[in-house]
Amino acid sequence: MTSTLRTGILGIGTRIPDNVLTNDDLARIVDTTDEWIVTRTGIRERRLLSPGELLADYGAEAARRALDNAGVPLSEVDLILACTYTPDRLCPSLACDIHHRLGPELGSAAAFDLNAACSGFLYGLHLADKLIATGTHRRILLIALENHSGILDFTDRSTCILFGDGASAVVLGPVEDGSDSGIYATCIGADGEGTAHIQLLHDGPMHPESPHARNDGQPYLRMNGREVFKYATRVFGVALDEVLALAGMSTDQIDFLIPHQANMRIIRAGAERIHIAPERVVMNIERYGNTASVSIPLGITDLLAEGRLKKGDTLALVAFGAGYTYGAAVVKW
Ligand code: UT7
Repeated sequence: MTSTLRTGILGIGTRIPDNVLTNDDLARIVDTTDEWIVTRTGIRERRLLSPGELLADYGAEAARRALDNAGVPLSEVDLILACTYTPDRLCPSLACDIHHRLGPELGSAAAFDLNAACSGFLYGLHLADKLIATGTHRRILLIALENHSGILDFTDRSTCILFGDGASAVVLGPVEDGSDSGIYATCIGADGEGTAHIQLLHDGPMHPESPHARNDGQPYLRMNGREVFKYATRVFGVALDEVLALAGMSTDQIDFLIPHQANMRIIRAGAERIHIAPERVVMNIERYGNTASVSIPLGITDLLAEGRLKKGDTLALVAFGAGYTYGAAVVKW
């Protein structure tokens, strides 16, 4: 039997690190300039975890804030879904570490991680929406969180200037009867041709032949920026067309477009292609850099904090990332 439950975002909470790294700080570490970074990416500064800080603590804090915001008690949560490609460790999952921090009131809520890189939040939203719509789960904590400072190679100027850290959580559940808010459509996709172009490598048994091997045992990111750029500007429109068709809507019904914050030039090119006015496009890359899966809920957080997001507004969300992966969603606030 098909259920008619619509999933809503019942609350949102975000925790970003206090530690700010400016472009000028980076210019003292690698051969770069503030002018190059701003012109090529739009980034002026980013927030990074400090040594010794754990992503699980950020995730738990974001989750508590989201639950407070939703007015939902912890005891009602029946699934924690952590979207990340930079967990504190591979096993046990970050979601279980967050479960541990949130405490026994959670009972036996399920917990697992989902890795779709920068598309992680939208992959998570897609999955959670189906789980709620079918009545399988009722209260899902969807947490996007990344620790790039743990995986960046600060000798590689083409990647270390791009990324930032943080955590953002939403509480998802069925909307109240009669409400027209909630998720109207989601779509996700992947293109395995992209596997070569963004990789989080790890010296060790899986990749002893890697041409980039550093042999210091640390994971590190490598990216073919130009190739990713081409894919991103193309898939942006493809994903939005797909999700708008599913929602039965057109671009002029969208109040705000919240794109993954990868590069200001990618966002502008994508927005131009779909003819959406710049003032309706959320851009906060200047302050946070590319926070991967976190960038879309961070965009929602900023819109709310600025008082621009009103009940009844329609949001289009779109992301792409390593894999390649992409995702999009239409949500009425
Ligand atoms: O979230 C998804 C993951 N990633 C992305 O979405 C990234 C997509 N790609 C990009 O954002 C852009 O490709 C970058 C910002 C990474 C690079 O910008 P670009 O305009 O594509 O530069 P480029 O790679 O074509 O490099 C141009 C020049 C090169 O020098 P030469 O060969 O022309 O002499 C680079 O070595 O800029 C040089 N360069 C830098 N110079 C100063 C590369 N990084 C830097 C730097 N500072 N940080």
